[in-house]
Amino acid sequence: MRRLAILGASGHGKVMADTAECCNWHAIEFFDDAWPELQHNGAWPVIGDTASLLERIEQFDGVMVAIGNNGIRHGKLLALQAAGARLCSLVHPSATVSRYAALGEGSVVLAGVVVNADACIGLGAILNTGCSIDHDCVLGAAVHVSPGARLAGGVAVGNLSWIGIGACVRQLVRIGDRVIVGAGAAVTADVADDLTVVGVPARILFKADAS
Ligand SMILES: CC(C)(COP(=O)(O)OP(=O)(O)OC[C@H]1O[C@@H](n2cnc3c(N)ncnc32)[C@H](O)[C@@H]1OP(=O)(O)O)[C@@H](O)C(=O)NCCC(=O)NCCS
Repeated sequence: MRRLAILGASGHGKVMADTAECCNWHAIEFFDDAWPELQHNGAWPVIGDTASLLERIEQFDGVMVAIGNNGIRHGKLLALQAAGARLCSLVHPSATVSRYAALGEGSVVLAGVVVNADACIGLGAILNTGCSIDHDCVLGAAVHVSPGARLAGGVAVGNLSWIGIGACVRQLVRIGDRVIVGAGAAVTADVADDLTVVGVPARILFKADAS
């Protein structure tokens, strides 16, 4: 039976494990730095911390990271890659990913997502429930697109940026690195690095760190 290790026994981890079962992974084990105090994450066991995963990395046919914080997830993915982990990706059977789209290692595509032709998704993305990524979008490393968010065609999203739940981004807009787009925002113009924007149309709330 193929073994999948998930680092990060979070709520998002439960959704990831559930998705993995739908993708025919049936031996799923969590690792989390709260182990050994933390022994279970929903239906799945927590069997070690980051160090013990790195020690046993060759035992797993697939490895994923379920940490919502983009910067931490990115760092863990790079460390696992360097240790020779078989990073995989997961696409829920109800998601539609164009055969002409590219999906980076360590990325998860949850139920009801649509990714259209020539979209390019980087390392370790979270494409959360029911979001859509239209044609020719380019997402950098460790981007999170929250549930129900919409990226129109040709949008660029920089490394470690977070698009909030239900947000919309107009076609061809460029969003920088470590940007936070607030829940429900409508982004109509480019957003520079390290900004948080909210509202309709989106305006700067403050300069912040999305990592
Ligand atoms: C934008 C965001 C990151 C700001 O969080 P925060 O730094 O804790 O900010 P606060 O909650 O202290 O709010 C600061 C101000 O911005 C306003 N604000 C916060 N989020 C807003 C949003 N999405 N749209 C409009 N205004 C918003 C608040 O009302 C508050 O206004 P006030 O100063 O007049 O009272 C957060 O509100 C947000 O939208 N996060 C996305 C959540 C999400 O997508 N979750 C899905 C996870 S899968």
